[in-house]
Amino acid sequence: MPHAAYVFDAYGTLFDVHAAVRRHAGEIGPDGQQLSEIWRAKQLEYSWVHSLMGAYVDFWTLTERALDFAFQKVPTADRSLRDALLAAYWKLDCYPEVPAVLKALKANGARLAILSNGSPAMLEAAVRSSALDTVLDDVFSVDTLRRYKTDPAVYEMVTMSWRIYPEAVSFQSSNRWDVAGATRFGFRTVWINRAGQPDEYADRPPALILPSLDGLVTAS
Ligand code: LAC
Repeated sequence: MPHAAYVFDAYGTLFDVHAAVRRHAGEIGPDGQQLSEIWRAKQLEYSWVHSLMGAYVDFWTLTERALDFAFQKVPTADRSLRDALLAAYWKLDCYPEVPAVLKALKANGARLAILSNGSPAMLEAAVRSSALDTVLDDVFSVDTLRRYKTDPAVYEMVTMSWRIYPEAVSFQSSNRWDVAGATRFGFRTVWINRAGQPDEYADRPPALILPSLDGLVTAS
């Protein structure tokens, strides 16, 4: 049964977070992938820790701090690329299937949005650079709440704003921990397991697992 509303996580789900490092792979050297993985892992860890401390710091600042930590962990990476890597974050590539899938869901009459930890300016830039602004109805940023996923209040931003029940929302994320939080909140969840990761959070399973967003239109 098609859903009335589809909400997407941004980074890793619609936008390729490793595209920034890949774009500069030749200059970074052999440990680029390690740099990118540490950068992403720390960015997320900082979001959880700041949320739990009750001391919000915006996602852009956390992204900068995470890259600085990653550079310290990977001394072979050329630090002079710091500004270029950060700049690339503002025009991350979306995954190739994203525009067509969103357009098809929209053509079926669904409401579409992003719900992300990203700060509003980062999200606006990424959405515009992938030309997704015409197809999305809303971009919800946690910045309004000053708390990060998986705080239930984050997922509630959608149901409060759209005045719909959680089960009317199909929520897509490639982050298994985000899927767990959204399932706990009551969304119907789809885990986009792009990296072929093993399952976790067995007590909060997704309704569906897909290798990419392809298949969402027929499977929904
Ligand atoms: C987001 C991160 C978690 O977009 O990917 O919210």
